[in-house]
Amino acid sequence: MKKILITGGAGFIGSNFANIHKEEYKIVVLDTLFLGDKENLDEHENITFIEGDACLPSDLDACLEVLGGSVDFVVHFAGTSSQPMFNGDGFAWGYTNAISSFVHTLEWARKNGAQKFLYASTSSLYANNPLPLVETQVVAPPNHYAVTKHVYEECSTCYNAVYPEMDIIGFRFMSVYGPNEEAKGVYANLISQFAWDIGRDLQPVIYGDGTQTRDFTNVKDVVQGITLAMTSSKKLGADVFNIGLGKSTSLNDIVDALNKAFGKNITPKYIENPIKEAYIQDQYADISKIQNILGFNPSVSLEVGIQDQVDNLRLEKVRKTSSDDFR
Ligand SMILES: NC(=O)c1ccc[n+]([C@@H]2O[C@H](COP(=O)([O-])OP(=O)(O)OC[C@H]3O[C@@H](n4cnc5c(N)ncnc54)[C@H](O)[C@@H]3O)[C@@H](O)[C@H]2O)c1
Repeated sequence: MKKILITGGAGFIGSNFANIHKEEYKIVVLDTLFLGDKENLDEHENITFIEGDACLPSDLDACLEVLGGSVDFVVHFAGTSSQPMFNGDGFAWGYTNAISSFVHTLEWARKNGAQKFLYASTSSLYANNPLPLVETQVVAPPNHYAVTKHVYEECSTCYNAVYPEMDIIGFRFMSVYGPNEEAKGVYANLISQFAWDIGRDLQPVIYGDGTQTRDFTNVKDVVQGITLAMTSSKKLGADVFNIGLGKSTSLNDIVDALNKAFGKNITPKYIENPIKEAYIQDQYADISKIQNILGFNPSVSLEVGIQDQVDNLRLEKVRKTSSDDFR
């Protein structure tokens, strides 16, 4: 059985990745629980959770012991997972946590003979680039969060030039939604936040008129894309792939779809957009690269994904209560 270390694996995307792969792989999850929740992980003999910090080689080594001294794949989801975490006093910590966890995990993976290192980049790198967003576009990261992901990508290219034996593959996720986001609270995807509001009969808060769009992508399809890269027999070197559904949906349409799934009719509360600069009005990805090279085929429609989210609502676990708190 092949072995995977997942850093940040008790978080939203990482826990979905672990739970989906628990039958076929021996998995160790390393997470500080800064935002994650152990209970996101299924109880299964093939999943071991270790509370610890990917910035610390000693904590990474503790994972190696549980993995029996070797590792096949390292999937890096740890780090500082959104821009607001860099605000105010979060600035130095945000950078340190993002960069230190990445470089230490990368080194650890190579030194322990991992075949592939797979990591989360972000579509935020594209800022307001022309649509559709495509990997060949020049990017100018618009905020600290996106800068750290740009560093990951540039670092991977340099690192792979020196150590070509380990593939290093990054993924520019679009707007990811799905189960296990409750512990992210105010940092969660808009679909989760709107669902938590409507589930409590509160009005979801929308900046502007709700016509802005995002490429909402179900977490199962994110797992599919990463898995295709992980299991591909192609030598990928250092590369980056978009993962998205490849289409844009407005916030108004999301609220409508949620109301339909809940059987409710709660209207949004529209407020003036407080983000004056570089607000992303529209987003959707060109996914032809990952389709052509890895055979990616997004399989979860928004309708099905949103119904699943509503059917599995865990309101009692939400860390913060309303999308009024933060956007
Ligand atoms: N969710 C999205 O829409 C989205 C979009 C683009 C990129 N991403 C990226 O994907 C990755 C996973 O995102 P997510 O939504 O699951 O975020 P998340 O915050 O739920 O997961 C990250 C996990 O990493 C843990 N963590 C943070 N620093 C750590 C460290 N030093 N050592 C060990 N664990 C640490 C946190 O406790 C958390 O459980 C992040 O890197 C994020 O930037 C997410």
